[in-house]
Amino acid sequence: MKVIGIVGSIRENSIHRMIFNAYKELSSDEFELIEGEIEDIPMYRGKDDEPTVSKLAEKIKGADAVIFFSPEYNYSVSGVLKNTLDFLSRQDPQPLSGKKAAIIGASPGGIGSARMQHHLRQIGVFLNLHFLNKPEVMIGNAMDKLKDGKLTDQETREFLKKHAKSFKEFVNS
Ligand code: FNR
Repeated sequence: MKVIGIVGSIRENSIHRMIFNAYKELSSDEFELIEGEIEDIPMYRGKDDEPTVSKLAEKIKGADAVIFFSPEYNYSVSGVLKNTLDFLSRQDPQPLSGKKAAIIGASPGGIGSARMQHHLRQIGVFLNLHFLNKPEVMIGNAMDKLKDGKLTDQETREFLKKHAKSFKEFVNS
């Protein structure tokens, strides 16, 4: 099983990139997690034909599912992720339509990106994504769980392993 991971932060030292790296390792018994890079996608200007987006769309089409690793910016998804989703929604065929998906988010505060996750689920209605409902992954107080760019918190690592198992079952159901 092949899963595309989209990291919704292009910030240097992004905690979501650290969590993506950890999840890639922790999910490796269940499926192959391949990054769908968004870093070079320009802002959407009404021109749907964009090589960086076509490349991502092809990757998504060839995969079984998608996982979004997104920060919460001002109670919603990051601008770069929304821009990517807007671009993808303009592709024909729309590559996310009918795909199974999951959301993984974290925050330095206690809420763990919960508000972003509900916005992303709402966006997913129009995109025709089918999200795993549970378990939800909202990693609060993330700075206490990461050290030197690595996810060190054992409980979170175990939880992500369980999540990968549940996600695999969901995708295969
Ligand atoms: C934030 N942050 C933030 N955190 C949160 O829990 N709720 C929020 O609404 C916001 N809003 C927000 C807006 C902007 C513009 C920035 C830059 C940051 C903090 C955010 O969770 C934190 O910076 C994370 O480290 C972002 O994830 P990455 O970029 O490190 O992966």
